[in-house]
Amino acid sequence: MPQNLNAAQEYAAKWLEIIKKPEQPPEELGKWIIEESMHNFAEHFNKGWLDYRKSVTQAGQWAATEWTGHGATFEDVLGRKYIDFLGGFGMMDLGWSHPEVVAAVQAQLLRTPMPSQELIDPLRGVLAKLLADISPGDLKYAWFAASGTESIEAAIKLAKVYTQKPAFIVAVKAFHGKTMGALSMMGKADYRVPPGVLYGGPVYHVPFGDAAAVEQQLEICEKIGVGVAGVLMEPIQGEAGGIVPPDDFWPRIREATKKHGTLLIADEVQTGLGRTGKLWGVDHWNVVPDIIAVAKSLGGGVMPICAVITTEEIFQSFMYPNPFLQTTTTGGGALACSAAIAAINVTVRDRLWEVAEEKGNYILAKVQALAEKYPQIYKGVTGKGLLIGQHFQTPELGGAVAAALFKRGVLVAGTLTSAQTIRIEPPLVITYDEINQGLAALQEALADVAQEM
Ligand SMILES: Cc1ncc(COP(=O)(O)O)c(C=O)c1O
Repeated sequence: MPQNLNAAQEYAAKWLEIIKKPEQPPEELGKWIIEESMHNFAEHFNKGWLDYRKSVTQAGQWAATEWTGHGATFEDVLGRKYIDFLGGFGMMDLGWSHPEVVAAVQAQLLRTPMPSQELIDPLRGVLAKLLADISPGDLKYAWFAASGTESIEAAIKLAKVYTQKPAFIVAVKAFHGKTMGALSMMGKADYRVPPGVLYGGPVYHVPFGDAAAVEQQLEICEKIGVGVAGVLMEPIQGEAGGIVPPDDFWPRIREATKKHGTLLIADEVQTGLGRTGKLWGVDHWNVVPDIIAVAKSLGGGVMPICAVITTEEIFQSFMYPNPFLQTTTTGGGALACSAAIAAINVTVRDRLWEVAEEKGNYILAKVQALAEKYPQIYKGVTGKGLLIGQHFQTPELGGAVAAALFKRGVLVAGTLTSAQTIRIEPPLVITYDEINQGLAALQEALADVAQEM
């Protein structure tokens, strides 16, 4: 496509006019937006995405092109309404456009969106203190960037710098992000293989939830003289579909890592801040890890922000002798911090983890009953709080249920490391009325799918 600066400027100006209008676009404009969006995705963004996600983007004659949302519901550009049973893959614990988060961000936007990078930026300090206040044990220093993946990159780098050891132990079916370091820790071949050689140090994968396997791998590494910097695990596997480990898993890997001088890193990117029915996933087992990585809902569903939280002793590695060992220019800016401060305020004030536990138990019981009714469709249901995995007999059945749900105005999606799994992961602020509507749609969807088998 030849360079065309005039066309670019005209197109940007046209879209800025649309962006600046607060009201729902008229029908004709809405249809134009859908056609443009489909074209732009196909020609310039990712055509494969469009094809792959057909089952959950088609809504009648016009593809669903999202436009606005509040709480656990959203509308597409034609004004059609949906219930969100996906929660932005765990990023929308507070729902779409939480008013208190939006208000904080708007106020900070008018003051200044980004820090100078040279003076002291107050909000970064406030957020670090708040995270120290709400984190378990003696975790008290934080580093910020934008995405969950970056928090994992920082965590593995911190563990290496602190321990001066090269290896990591991680889990099969784990999801930690897709940059080269985080990708090395991922537990699925589809994503690890295409780029070829990943992290240069040894990475050992063990079955998730198998404490004996972690203990054995640490013993083997000790015997063969390979130092293990960190054991990196999700408290409850998210992308694998809400896989809960046995109760002895986290306490035992805590003991084993202490014994071998290895850091225990909890990837709380998806489980942190209330999602699973506790403030932190590790709180289910009263374990204090050495490092926590958190992201997704830290930004209140409004801004991207992640954090790595650790002890003073370990964080020394990022402070001395070089305090610029780990930096990023745009990550953890003032807007992002204002969103996180507001998100933490709402989460703690409204004790959202208790809300997640109660609503999660309600949904889990209902979905388990449906799984018993339709054994030809379901393999099982797992999860804790509002991180629930529906595991289907085949990926096709999962896709059929997701499509049947979407036809009824309920959004769910597959997971990235388990093809036949569909999560139920709504915003924690979803109402019981919305939950019941979603479950009624699930009942109808299953009846449809069962009839077509
Ligand atoms: C447990 C976990 N870690 C890391 C990541 C990567 O986070 P992000 O997509 O924000 O880079 C994800 C994303 O789904 C995740 O679920």
